[in-house]
Amino acid sequence: VSTYRLALVGFGSVGRGLAEILSLHHRRFVDRYGADIRIVAACTRRWCVYDPNGIDAAALLRAASPDAIRALPGACAWKTDQMIASVDADVLVEASPTDMTTGEPATTYVRSAIGRGMHVITANKGPIALHFAELRRLAEERGVMLGFEATVMAGTPALRLGWSDLAGCDIQEVRGIVNGTTNFILTRMERGMDYASALAEAQRLGYAEADPTSDVEGHDAACKAAILANVLMDARLTPADVEREGITGITREMVAAAAATGERWKLIARVWRDGSTTRAAVRPMRLMVEHPLAGIDGATNALTLSTDLLGNVTIIGPGAGGVATGFAILSDLLALHRVRRTENQEPRTEN
Ligand code: HSE
Repeated sequence: VSTYRLALVGFGSVGRGLAEILSLHHRRFVDRYGADIRIVAACTRRWCVYDPNGIDAAALLRAASPDAIRALPGACAWKTDQMIASVDADVLVEASPTDMTTGEPATTYVRSAIGRGMHVITANKGPIALHFAELRRLAEERGVMLGFEATVMAGTPALRLGWSDLAGCDIQEVRGIVNGTTNFILTRMERGMDYASALAEAQRLGYAEADPTSDVEGHDAACKAAILANVLMDARLTPADVEREGITGITREMVAAAAATGERWKLIARVWRDGSTTRAAVRPMRLMVEHPLAGIDGATNALTLSTDLLGNVTIIGPGAGGVATGFAILSDLLALHRVRRTENQEPRTEN
């Protein structure tokens, strides 16, 4: 059994989702895969707790408030940067509240942890949308993994499908619904709910960003479009390069008018090759109900990857939510575990 000691930065919906998975299923990962995954440190802006033997994930979940955490064994006054510099851990799980337009403080945390030789899994889009090439190079130089599956479509393995399973294909276009909050709002508005109530429900369910303007004005989808372009199509786009329009201009009347003619409004992200450049756009579109993306409801996302060797491949699944995103971190951890197992195997001799 290999042990993975995780240091968590941020304990919002993603950190809690991961803690929930580990508190319920820790044994499954040991028994099935030989991976003993433990949280040894958890840091928020106001508190930190560190126990080199592993913090009881259920206790961590119960003590969610900054004051309650003080009662946990190992509570200390470390700031996040001190924690990253001092902690004895294998993997930094970076899910801090971060401004996606600057990518900070997440990018600084990612760089520091890689510099210390830790594997890093980030749920923040900013570092990957803005600094993917640099961070990948740093990770390669240090021989550590940089995991970022959580950044697009939560735990639905859209990025892994593209860069791993479809390796060998040229991905020429990617198109889909990549923001759960806006799809949830549009779906609720079709059922007569007003925009503000639908947004409030998306926030309550943990789909929306800390500042939901990022969702409804299309910044989140633009960030994901840049990530898709950079990771899957080897482009160098930033979110600012993505043409963008959100859903704030879509009224209930517009939604009803579309429904009357058998159409649905969807916020569509698209990345495509245009000669030797790659372009990306996010905009609301009225789709006929027969369109493959028209049937995607609620916080579900869908992405169609157009490839040269396999034609179109579509993946549909959860796009937001604490446990769904916590699962993405788990899937990166298990991918790391598989790589390490393969590396540790004796080379086979053929006679
Ligand atoms: N706010 C994002 C969404 C979360 O609604 O899709 C997942 O990135």
